Amino acid sequence: MAGLHTSDFKNPVVRWIDSRLPLFTLMSKEYGQFPTPKNFNYFWNFGALATINLLIMIATGVFLAMNYTPTATGAFDSVQRIMRDVNYGWLLRLVHMNGASMFFILIYVHIFRGMYYGSYKAPRELLWMTGVALLLLLMATAFMGYVLPWGQMSYWGATVITNLFGAIPLVGQWIVTLLWGGFAVGDPTLNRFFSLHYLLPFIIFGVVFLHVVALHITGSNNPLGIEVKSEQDTVPFHPYYTAKDSVGMCVYFLVFALIVFLRPYIFSEVDNNIPANVLQTPNEIVPEWYLLPYYAILRSVPDKLAGVCCMFGSILVLFVLPWLDTSPVRSARFRPIYRIMMFALVADMVLLGHVGANRPEGLFILEGRIGTVLYFAFYAALPFVGWLERPLPLPESISRPVLPPRSGGGGGGGPLPAGVAAKPMEKA
Ligand code: HEM
Repeated sequence: MAGLHTSDFKNPVVRWIDSRLPLFTLMSKEYGQFPTPKNFNYFWNFGALATINLLIMIATGVFLAMNYTPTATGAFDSVQRIMRDVNYGWLLRLVHMNGASMFFILIYVHIFRGMYYGSYKAPRELLWMTGVALLLLLMATAFMGYVLPWGQMSYWGATVITNLFGAIPLVGQWIVTLLWGGFAVGDPTLNRFFSLHYLLPFIIFGVVFLHVVALHITGSNNPLGIEVKSEQDTVPFHPYYTAKDSVGMCVYFLVFALIVFLRPYIFSEVDNNIPANVLQTPNEIVPEWYLLPYYAILRSVPDKLAGVCCMFGSILVLFVLPWLDTSPVRSARFRPIYRIMMFALVADMVLLGHVGANRPEGLFILEGRIGTVLYFAFYAALPFVGWLERPLPLPESISRPVLPPRSGGGGGGGPLPAGVAAKPMEKA
């Protein structure tokens, strides 16, 4: 029929829909036949897991919102009611609450994978940058969500963090008043945070869409960090990676369930079970674990404005990572110095997290300052490491190390699946 898309699907209903709105063709192209490097390891599960986690957060959040009251007098009690009286309210809340921590575990591993295997390098710069935008959006969403139960830590955390904007010259105080909707954290603050906390996940969803479009334009990187050279280097996404992602998903659901049912308060701060009290500052004001390293950076710098700049700078520097790293080699497997630097960065983040969880006194001040200097030293050193480092020799192609030896030696590996060995590439 004129103007209709030609659809090859056998099922008449699917064909009818697809010829008018080719969603099935799109899905089959992008998630069915999509050629994907055949050497992915389990680190490549984390993007899919983060997407599922996002959907879980949206679904549980929508139902929680049906029973939540966004007022300073009603918020705390409404959360208690959800936990005690609403049917399965406890489950909704515990999944949502721990889902935030799960999200950051997944995302931090996802970022580590991208950095370790050089997935931020050309041509994937925009893919990487949409990822950094997602990280910032996630942090903002998590921070605002943490304010909603209106416990002691919600209130005082919101007060400390929103006050930071006051350090910005000229417009600082104006921004703080805008965030508060008044002259202190109160009812209007809670209201706007609730509204934005509901909105942002949908914006995150839109940015994830752009992230995946960018991924499907450039194609995935892989653990070797080398380009796909022939059809032999890839397998169709389905069933190979739908199956592999399903394995990751089972492990993820198991861990998530163990936390929700056996240790539901493992990530939370006990003080948040006390209703917000504007007249009593808690002994310690600490953010959630996933923000601790950045909080440590903030407190390690003696000047407030410089501290705020360093804290935001520690995340924003990720935007320019593709241009800071001058090495032509992507994967840390072949970069001896960069690999050590990556593990040192992880250790440094753990150290900063530990510092952020403790009062800034005694040895913690020194540790925080050393940790902050080392954090920025990683990024400052990258251009020089790229020039000075001698990378190890790269494999010829993704499939080469697993092909049988050529006549005369080289290569190696076990037997190949039927059909693969007969392809022309191999005879070369
Ligand atoms: C809501 C958060 C996020 C979601 C749902 C998400 C989703 C995904 C998905 C589905 C993939 C493809 C599967 C995979 O390679 O694992 C992917 C790839 C990628 N993501 Fe994310 N992502 C998120 C955040 C981030 C962040 C914060 C960064 C970096 C700062 C990032 C950087 C990348 C990169 C570089 C790739 C390509 C990896 C490669 O091909 O080697 N993503 N993401």
